[in-house]
Amino acid sequence: MSTPTRIVVDRTAVGAVVPRRLFGSFVEHMGRCVYDGIHSPEHPSADADGFRADVLELVRELGATVVRYPGGNFVSGYRWEDGVGPRTDRPVRLDAAWHSTETNQVGLHEFATWADAAGVELMEAVNLGTRGVAEAADLLEYANHPAGTALSERRRANGRDEPFGIRLWCLGNEMDGPWQIGHKTADEYGRLAAETARMMRFIDPTVELVAAGSSNHEMPTFGAWERGVLTHTAGLIDHISVHAYYEEDPADPASFLASGAALDRYIGDVADIIDEVGATTPDGGTVGISVDEWNVWNQTRWNEVDKPRVFTGDWPIAPRLIEDDYTVTDAVVVGSLLITLIRRSERVSMANLAQLVNVIGPIRTEPDGGAAWRQSTFHPFKLTAEAASGRVVVPLVEGATIDTARHGTVDAVDAVATIDGEHVSVFLAHRDLDAPTEVALELGAIADVEAVVVTIPAGGDRHTTNSADAEPVAPAELPVSVGDDGILRLTLPALAWARIRARLVD
Ligand code: AHR
Repeated sequence: MSTPTRIVVDRTAVGAVVPRRLFGSFVEHMGRCVYDGIHSPEHPSADADGFRADVLELVRELGATVVRYPGGNFVSGYRWEDGVGPRTDRPVRLDAAWHSTETNQVGLHEFATWADAAGVELMEAVNLGTRGVAEAADLLEYANHPAGTALSERRRANGRDEPFGIRLWCLGNEMDGPWQIGHKTADEYGRLAAETARMMRFIDPTVELVAAGSSNHEMPTFGAWERGVLTHTAGLIDHISVHAYYEEDPADPASFLASGAALDRYIGDVADIIDEVGATTPDGGTVGISVDEWNVWNQTRWNEVDKPRVFTGDWPIAPRLIEDDYTVTDAVVVGSLLITLIRRSERVSMANLAQLVNVIGPIRTEPDGGAAWRQSTFHPFKLTAEAASGRVVVPLVEGATIDTARHGTVDAVDAVATIDGEHVSVFLAHRDLDAPTEVALELGAIADVEAVVVTIPAGGDRHTTNSADAEPVAPAELPVSVGDDGILRLTLPALAWARIRARLVD
């Protein structure tokens, strides 16, 4: 047993409202996310549009609130018109972003229907790589204008009488990255994003626009990029994006487990730049942070295995790309990253776990009539999305700390709480790999306590993963007791993520 942990949730110290859009996800035309993922007409569970009912069921269970679409790097070469109209007439194209063949059998209409069925808000990205203001405006008019113009009538002729009413729009994707189709400097992109935003607002003043921030915190242009883009787009955008992926260095799991501290610093740096630009630029300071791609991603495997395999071969349809098998450790890191996002609710306006199915997804599918199943990371996401609402409380945590090589010293137990009416939810990530800790949780008077934990299953280790045949990494009940002193006590195993919910009584 390691040092005991004391956690105090002061129910009077409530902070920002938790945006429900924090629990978004992402569907890109990449690998087997769309084709062979959410869409598979040959599957026994497929509906009339070819979407898998078993996958849809898991998406509903996951509880994602918003889904970004159709990319990602893919969108920077995408012509949206290819994906509308009769499917038999749709062109087959090369997808240069992922060296794949795009059949266009899924496009805006099909995806919007799927999003409705899944109960998620659609967040649409426009192509600012090979295209610009005109094509973005056309897509918006096609999607959101009621009727009576060539584009809106084309939508209606394609079977959608009512506008799609899409509110959230991404102005391109990762335009700072040299790998991006149509990669730009901050000035080039900032000007284009501003003019695209202006035109889109003329057409539909109700849109919410997300400018592309840096692709990651380590980009050599980080900071200068945000300053440039925010200055050009001041008063025209609502959010700026942050993309953040973390991977384990097998020699340094402690730093990996402290990834939440790195994300926290990244968010803090972007928030400082928003404030700095806002102080000198009219309308520049009211911009939210959209963490619209975040996850654990083994990028070393992508660079060494997937990328050489796919980019040197022919142009496959829906190849297996970045289908990482998530471990218990990964689940604890994902849970801890969610804790950071909630804690930063005052600045983070939305977030999207990238991606949803197969491609670094919490949901995986087998082809040829096979199963759909939950990866380890599914559970902290689902359990957080269903309970984190109301206002944030940042608890006092007293206990052991862990020194890490990359992210400094962090609390062994990462914690955040939310209070919604009479319910409190506490989310804990225990980052000690070796020993459990006794936790004393002070919440004031409570009743109806429920606690679940995701940790190493019996007979497993921290590398245990789920598969189509078995899902050993799953939530289990966590025994708790409430003493005469009103303190809730529990034992948090080594390497664990937990959620405690209770009713607050006066
Ligand atoms: O999510 C996979 C890829 O990661 C996205 O296409 C891109 O935006 C990011 O680099």
